[in-house]
Amino acid sequence: MHTFIENIPKAELHVHLEGTLEPELSFVLAKKNDVALEYDSTEALVAAYDFHDLPSFLKIYYAGMNVLRDEYDFYQLTYAYLSKARSQQVLYAELFFDPQAHTSRGVSFETVITGIHKAQLDAEESLGIKSQLILCFLRDMSAESAMQHLDMAEPYLGWLVGVGLDSDERNNPPVKFADVFAKAKKMGLKLTMHCDVNQQNTLTHIEQCIRTIEVDRIDHGINSLESDKLCELIKDKKLGLTVCPVSNRFVVQSLTSNEIHSMLEKDMLVTINSDDPAYFRAYLNENLFELQKEGEFDQAQMTTLVSNAFKVAWLDEKTKADYLLQVDNYVSQY
Ligand code: ADE
Ligand code: ZN
Repeated sequence: MHTFIENIPKAELHVHLEGTLEPELSFVLAKKNDVALEYDSTEALVAAYDFHDLPSFLKIYYAGMNVLRDEYDFYQLTYAYLSKARSQQVLYAELFFDPQAHTSRGVSFETVITGIHKAQLDAEESLGIKSQLILCFLRDMSAESAMQHLDMAEPYLGWLVGVGLDSDERNNPPVKFADVFAKAKKMGLKLTMHCDVNQQNTLTHIEQCIRTIEVDRIDHGINSLESDKLCELIKDKKLGLTVCPVSNRFVVQSLTSNEIHSMLEKDMLVTINSDDPAYFRAYLNENLFELQKEGEFDQAQMTTLVSNAFKVAWLDEKTKADYLLQVDNYVSQY
């Protein structure tokens, strides 16, 4: 099973580029940019990754990205993730980035997006991994700030596939950003939003995502299982759910394998992802290995989880069919 998972062609749909910042690169960039770090070794830094909920993670995540300053820093961050992903047979990735976390520190939108975009082009050419970019708004900042950043993104529209919503969900419901997402949709962008596990008012947030915002996908969305009505809506609209098992374990002490089993039984389009792999110390393969063990998923179920990601990817039908054929060929030859 380990080898089967390791080598199956994969897509990753829920990964925050800033959450792929490995401690080693942090130290290199801190030195180069003359930024003081609170820890004196990579081991000490990793030892501080002691998260128990979303806010305790976000505090370390935002502090960590302070070493990212110039275009080449964003290039290196992105290229390193894409290399690692490609080494795990990820053929396609949709990448979140958080521009407001950088502009608020005086790093321009152009610097961030240009560094990321150049790395995407180079990785596709040199490594054969295709990727698309999703601009995430920080939900604990204002809707005005989100709108300003959507306006900043307009000259780079061709470099983006969609918009998302992340950061602290408490008291920051989807409807707060209804105008921003309506405008993004008019601009031709796809829409997704985080509905993190066990958040306050989670069922209301999931319903708002579907009915008011009319998202194309939901990030996490585990709690939808508490409502038959929401499960039916998600199924009817064929919405993908980008679940992140190791990320969930920090909050609920389980990889949510029971919930993932339920989603598969209900034919919901559940996918497996890494979220913030440098912080959670698990890339896509490690998420799949650990999940398979906890939930004793069989080969057919693992194949469905992997195939679902290509099915709900923001790609044209022909490209999706080509990737799905690669998965089929792999499985039949295995
Ligand atoms: N930003 C980075 N990772 C996140 C997550 N899992 N939830 C919300 N915001 C995030
Ligand atoms: Zn996330």
